[in-house]
This record gives sequence, structure tokens and C-alpha cells, in this order.
Amino acid sequence: MTGDSPQRDGTPGLRPDRPAAASDQPARPGLHSLTAGRGMLFGGDYNPEQWPEEVWVEDVALMRAAHVNLVTVGVFSWARIEPEPGTRDFGWLDRVLDLLHDGGIAVDLATPTASPPPWLGHRWPETLPVDESGHRLYYGARNQWCPSSPIYRERALALVTDLADRYADHPALAMWHVGNEYGQVCHCDDTAAAFRGWLRERYGDLATLNEAWGTTFWSQHYGQWDEILTPRRAPYLRNPTQMLDFQRFCSDALLAHYRAERDILRRRTPSVPVTTNFMGFFKPVDYWAWAPHEDVVANDWYPFPGDPRSPVRAALTHDLMRGLAGGGPWMLLEQATDGVNWQKHNLPKPAGQFRLESLQAVARGADGLCYFQWRASRFGAERYHAAMVPHAGADTRLHTRVREHGAELRRLAPLVGQPVPARVALVHDWQSWWACESDGRPSDRLLVTDQLLRFYEPLWRRGVTVDLVPPGAELSGYRLVVVPNLFLLSDATAESLTSYVRDGGVLLVGPFSGVADPLGHIHTGRFPAPLREVLGASGEAWLPVADDPPLRCRWIADAEQRGDADAPAGTVPDPSPTGVEFTATIWSELMRAESARPVATFLDGDLAGAPAVLRNEFGTGRAWYLATVPQEAAMVALTDRVLADAAVTGVLPDLPDGVEAVRRGDTLFLLNHGAGPARVTLTEPAGELLTGDRVEGP
Ligand code: GAL
Ligand code: ZN
Repeated sequence: MTGDSPQRDGTPGLRPDRPAAASDQPARPGLHSLTAGRGMLFGGDYNPEQWPEEVWVEDVALMRAAHVNLVTVGVFSWARIEPEPGTRDFGWLDRVLDLLHDGGIAVDLATPTASPPPWLGHRWPETLPVDESGHRLYYGARNQWCPSSPIYRERALALVTDLADRYADHPALAMWHVGNEYGQVCHCDDTAAAFRGWLRERYGDLATLNEAWGTTFWSQHYGQWDEILTPRRAPYLRNPTQMLDFQRFCSDALLAHYRAERDILRRRTPSVPVTTNFMGFFKPVDYWAWAPHEDVVANDWYPFPGDPRSPVRAALTHDLMRGLAGGGPWMLLEQATDGVNWQKHNLPKPAGQFRLESLQAVARGADGLCYFQWRASRFGAERYHAAMVPHAGADTRLHTRVREHGAELRRLAPLVGQPVPARVALVHDWQSWWACESDGRPSDRLLVTDQLLRFYEPLWRRGVTVDLVPPGAELSGYRLVVVPNLFLLSDATAESLTSYVRDGGVLLVGPFSGVADPLGHIHTGRFPAPLREVLGASGEAWLPVADDPPLRCRWIADAEQRGDADAPAGTVPDPSPTGVEFTATIWSELMRAESARPVATFLDGDLAGAPAVLRNEFGTGRAWYLATVPQEAAMVALTDRVLADAAVTGVLPDLPDGVEAVRRGDTLFLLNHGAGPARVTLTEPAGELLTGDRVEGP
């Protein structure tokens, strides 16, 4: 290998706010309780309520042949269990669980609260969600419930209680799956009342709220609590702090509901882990706030076939899941074997693609690889969605591949629980994401997830493994910390970044960071005010860039930077392999170097001569600031320089285009996302884990 030995053991406390198990409380069971004795988890969503019982028997036989060891059951079975208000029909579910258990298949049993039966909305329309225009959304699809509805809550919790009582001791029960893909938003009166309650908690009195929301602007002053609404549709731009607080409230309200269900389950089955399925970088829900309440971090991941950036997006998302799991293992709870049904033009996956995607997740810390769904539905809105058993049945190319994949995952059992070491951290914050992308900002082209990807991709290309961390995380174990965008920056986070650099770390900060406080109010003074000292630079104007004419920048050679024109040529590597100029896109800032040195400057227009990239020596570390969005090749050049500054190298040098390299435990994964074969030179001989073949070194 490259001498890239991990500095940390890969299981660091990435999350300082993750509640440590108090000594008088038993430790919570985690993914290990499922993988112990089973190895990698393999399976999918199983919806037997859509099929006659004879099919169940065939299902279990096919699952066994495919090495399936875990299925998620009952996600959408509320109406089947409770066909009339207050009734219970568990007989069918008893038989399903017994059959699965007899087949040696464990069950991730869902609370079926994501889709209430029509009777709930029919009798109690106030349980149905209301959109921001005040229109009710009806039953006939799914997710038609209001997170703040007391009636929904009462009915859901009664059902969860009975489900938990019924199956607490069932030997098939291995994990609880609460609801499904939490993300509902409602603007009804119940929600407005709950929002006001949340605001009272946060601000105490109206005067404080008025100040926080800046209601002297546009005559928005609130004189009574009852005047406060959720941010419903309005004639023009809405109050950004009201919007931000509503996003915080919505995430909290959903979490409160999840926790209410979870607590019922935990009380009855303290040794059974509880999870719900995340959706990657899903904007409405702050997963950093949720993750400490999960026993297992689980994700649903649906890459778009045909998107050349899919592998990079996947890697970034998997790294987020590992971060949410505190550096430990996590699982893919849903993915697709082939095309989905919910895009306009659902491209299929090339042969072997789903296997590659699954292995990529393993490489990045997943111990479970499950699919939506086991058997393709004949009816309903998802009848064109891929499955593990397609409509054509088991005698198909696709199902054969599913079986082969199930078999090969058995051979990856030694990887279970293995860490994925990283020396680079990438900071992401949901609250800042919400605040940054508010209406009425300088440019809606500067998007937080795009920025994450722009900073992440060059690292991925170099085979540099990255941990995703929340603001305020412990950073001392990392050699490089990358902050693509932290628009909203608290003093505490600014201080933690500053002391990280002071103590020898290397920091790279992207544009439009450190702009606002946690209320979304702009910091006054030259920006980024809270980071000015560590960056040794400051700015005074955000300047979105026109598409035409191009705004050029130029790298400055190191000798020039030092003001040492006589430095011997060749001692300073050209920072840009593509030439000395690059194009700035989308965004620019009028900056001034203070103690920092410009590494690149703008060449055109009003910005001519002003710094575009800056590097500051601070304490025993270095801080870099990027005041624009450079084209891709320049991002690679910049990343190479910053990596050199931090003395970080990838797990393997000279990776061909499209080849992803990442190490998990002692295993080096080389994943070829390209269309043709690729040649990679190993730095030492190795054994191939799946085939047992010997592979030669250089
Ligand atoms: C997920 C959902 C599943 C199924 C799947 C289809 O979002 O949890 O129930 O709808 O998408 O891709
Ligand atoms: Zn509502």
C-alpha cells in the first residue's frame, strides 16, 4: 500500500453529541446483534399482503436459495391489520413470521404507520396533511398523515403497542423498522398550534421571537401568539427565519413521532434494535439530530442509471451514513436491482450494476445490503419497479444474478464490523443547508449539495477516504477538514475550526461560509467574520458570475507568492496541470488577503487582481479559502495542493479514471465504474477476497 496507514482506528467518536450509554442504562443493541452469526445481511422489503399464501411458501424457498437472511415485513400493512377502526387481524402476519422463521430468515418488522387506511382520513379528515396553500391531501396514495395530529398519533401508537405485544417474543423478530422514510410536512391548524408551542420553548416570549425573526422588516411584528402561522403560501418572499424555524420544527416533530413509536418498542423488546430508513441527503430531516435516536443507521439509496456522477454521489452518501453511525457499520435497507418506476424515463441498470453498487456500499462500511423489494408487485403504483424476483419469475437472468450476489456476500462475512479509516473530514450541516438556500438569496445556483460534491469528487478520484461530520465534531484525528459550505456558523463551530488549525490541522473552506448566525442574521463586518482570523483574509461583496463573458482566474506560482522571484525553477510544482488559468463559475467574492497569501487571483472585470484562492499559515496549521466555484479541473488542482499541504495520499496512487479505491479493514476495494476494463497496479501482492486468486504486486 502507499504508506497511508490510518491515524485513527476508524471507530472514532465522530459525534460528540451522541448520547453515551449511561452506566445505569444497558447499552443499546446495534447492527452487530443482526450480523452476529448471519454475516452480511441480504434481503429486501417483503410485502406478502399482496400475494396469496401459496406464493409465500415459494417466496421462502427462493429466499433460501438466494441466501436471503433478512426481510422487512409489514411496512404498508396497516389496513390489513386494522381493517376497521379498533379491530386487529394478526393471523396472517403470524403465519408469515412463522414461515420466515422456519426458513431461517430474520425479520425487520415494520410499524405500518406510514400509510393509514382510508377509514382514518375519512372519519378524521384532520389527520390528513395540508399543503402550504391550505389544500388537504387525500388518501389513495401513501404518507397521508399529519405529524402533529393527536388523532393520528393516538391511533398509530395504539397499533404499535399491540404489534409490539404480539411479536415481542417471536423468534423471527430481529429489528424494528419504524414507519417509512419520514419526511411529511403539514400546514394545518394543529401544526400551527404545535409550531407555536415549539417557538414558545425556543424563544420564551414574543418580544424575543420578534427580534429573532426580524419582524421590524416589512411590518411583520406579531402582537399575539395566535397570529403566528406556519409559513403558508404568501404573496411574496417569506420571512427567512420563520422558514428556517419551521424546517427545524418539522424535523423535530417527525422525530418526536418516531421516538414515541420507538419508545413503545424499546420498552417491550429492550434487546431488539430499532431503526427507520433514511434517504441520504434528504433536505427536510436533520439526520445528525436523528441518528443518536437510532440503534441502526439505515439508508435507502436509488442512484440514477445514466448519471455519470452516480458513483461519486453514492460514495458521498455512504460516507454520510457511516458518519451518522458514528464511524461504525450501517446498512442499505433499500436499493433497486434494476430500473425504478418513479422517474419519467426509467433507465435500466447495465448487467452487474446492482452488484457493483452493493459492493461499493460494503466498501464504505455497510454490513447489510437489502433491496426494494423481494417480489415485483402485480398491481398498485409500483408495478413497474424492479425487484429481486421480477414478474417473469425466478427463471430469469436478473434473479440468477440476485442469487449469485447473495452467495458472494457470504464470502464477505470477514468484513462485517470492519472500520473504514479516513484522515479527511467533510463538514455538513442541515441547519446551514436550510438557512443557505432561503428564498431571495444572491444566487440560487450555489447549492449546498452541489458544493459538497464539487469538493468531494476530487478526493474520491484520488482514492482519499472521507468521513462526513457535523459541525462541532471532534476534529483532532483528521489531517484535513473540508468545509464546502457553512453559511450558518455558530461561534462555537468557528472556534472549533480555528483551534483545529491553530493546533496543526489543514482546513479548506468554500465560498459563502460563515455568513450568518444561527438565526440566519448576517454577521456584520468583513466576512466571513467568525473565520476571519483563521483564514487571514476577509471579503466585502458576494458577486454572482454571469455565464458570459467567462471570468478567468490565474494560479500564482509559489515563488511569486513568497515574493521570491529568484527561487530556483522546478522547486515549485505548477499548481495547475491544465495550465495557469481557469474559469470561475457561478459565484465570486471580493476578498482581501490579510495574513493569507493569494494562491490564485481573478483576471477580469472589477475583480481583476483580487484573490480567488487564499492560503494562510495560522498557529501550526494552514487554512485555505476559495472565493469562487472553479471549473472541475481547477478543483482537482486545488485539491492536490491542499492534500499535499496536509500530507494526505490516497489508498493507491495513479488510479485510472472511473476506478474507485477505498479500504475497509485490511481489504482494499477497487471498484471499476467505467465501461471497459481498467488496469491498476498494486503496491504489494494480495489475495482476491471473492475468488481466492492471488494478485501480483508491481
Ligand atoms: C422508497 C420507499 C419504498 C418504495 C421505493 C421505490 O422510497 O421506501 O416503499 O416506494 O421507494 O423506489
Ligand atoms: Zn396537519
